[in-house]
Amino acid sequence: MSLLLLLPKFSTPTSCFNFVPPPPQVTIRPHALRCYHSPPSISTPEATLTNIVNSGVIACLRAQSPDVALEAARAAITAGISVLEIVVSTPGVFEVLHQVVQDFPTTTLGVGTVLNTKDAENAKNAGAKFITSPAIVKDILDQESDDLLYIPGVMTPTEILSSYNAGAKIVKVYPVSAIGGVQYIATLKKPFPHIPMVASQGITTDSVGAYIDGGASAVVLSDAIFDKKAISERNFTAIYHLAQLAALQGNAAVKRKEKIYPG
Ligand SMILES: *[C@@H]1O[C@H](CO)[C@@H](O)[C@H](O)[C@H]1NC(C)=O
Repeated sequence: MSLLLLLPKFSTPTSCFNFVPPPPQVTIRPHALRCYHSPPSISTPEATLTNIVNSGVIACLRAQSPDVALEAARAAITAGISVLEIVVSTPGVFEVLHQVVQDFPTTTLGVGTVLNTKDAENAKNAGAKFITSPAIVKDILDQESDDLLYIPGVMTPTEILSSYNAGAKIVKVYPVSAIGGVQYIATLKKPFPHIPMVASQGITTDSVGAYIDGGASAVVLSDAIFDKKAISERNFTAIYHLAQLAALQGNAAVKRKEKIYPG
């Protein structure tokens, strides 16, 4: 067998992360030198959706520097978080994401606050399995993807239904705390029991169960895990403990729901 076959797949995407040089004895085609890609992992938007629903919690990380983002992500995942998104405004977001994908290949990783197709593409190339927006970004929604789950942000019944009809498999109700919290989600689930909803904005760890009982498929936790003070002080032990608590709350709520609605 040629040594070439043992190398990770190379391709020619638009951006590059962590180029890993090939062993010196191997010659590779010049165009292949441009970029290093992770080995393809089998995952569909449906599988990603299942992972999100089984987790009950999406940890949402924003940080002021790439190294803080990386350490905070590691702390949260080590503590039991299985779905995590990094907000696109985090410096070096795609490089950080790519590194976390390498370190934790079984974690479901995504990019948050994506507002255009360019960042969506960069997220995908970095290894993101999902992207979220605070609003419906029509260009992203219209671009059907075989390997990236898009979660548009919605607020009204009309936005929920039009996103769903345009192909969204799940929507993010945002900003949920500002518009009624658990009660708002529970009310929306009455006409739309078939549309999976993520609740997002201002949610605390102790209300994860109430949101999931109220019909949310999952909740986004940001400051509740990545506490602003802990992040600014680089207290990753504090983040570890907050993440552990959040993961436990998510698991408990999902288990309870499975008991009530088995299968
Ligand atoms: C980190 O946070 C924990 C509580 O969450 C606290 O007990 C500890 O003292 C903090 N560590 C530092 C170095 O500030």
